[in-house]
Amino acid sequence: MTSTTDSWSKALKTLHWLIAFFILFAWASVELHEFYERGDPMRGWWMVLHFSLGFTVLFLGMFRLYYRATHGRPSLYGGSFQKPISLLVQSLMYVVMIGMPLTGLLMRQFAGRETTLFWLFDLPSFVEKNTDLAKQLAFVHKEFLWNALLVLLVLHIGGALWHHLITKDNTLRQMLPFGKTR
Ligand code: HEM
Repeated sequence: MTSTTDSWSKALKTLHWLIAFFILFAWASVELHEFYERGDPMRGWWMVLHFSLGFTVLFLGMFRLYYRATHGRPSLYGGSFQKPISLLVQSLMYVVMIGMPLTGLLMRQFAGRETTLFWLFDLPSFVEKNTDLAKQLAFVHKEFLWNALLVLLVLHIGGALWHHLITKDNTLRQMLPFGKTR
């Protein structure tokens, strides 16, 4: 399943939409945990879901990066100033997609808290407890990277709509599951 000049491969389209879905639910799960008091088992349940979805994003993000490098991508539309901006936004999205789960994991580890995945197992601790570092990583995870992701998403979705509605090219259509390019 290799991409062609006017279409992403089926696997790369599927990975794109799966990652979008899991990021949305990773965010929803951490927001939902706040509806429960400390000590309520449901609060922990939503957090385990958050960790598990976050790790799924990490795995799928790295796999998509590998698959994209080995199976190609369709040609990029846009003028000479648009193309480098699109590539920069896409590259930064990978940095954030991989950085979010890693900083999430590290903030737990430096706080001396365990991370349970899929209600099945706890990840082993790799580092010595360091509360100051845990707080700094919490800032990077919850404020810096999250807000960076929101800005990148606005540029990403805005760019896709610009291509579709203003320049009327195939950029959006070639990522849609049943999109027909023209
Ligand atoms: C794509 C992956 C991830 C996304 C998009 C994400 C997003 C977020 C966001 C937006 C918050 C802040 C919620 C708020 O303050 O309202 C948060 C908090 C948090 N995240 Fe993540 N996260 C991801 C992965 C992970 C992973 C893999 C872990 C741990 C292994 C993790 C651990 C945490 C923890 C411990 C908090 C703090 C919760 C609290 O303040 O009680 N996250 N995450």
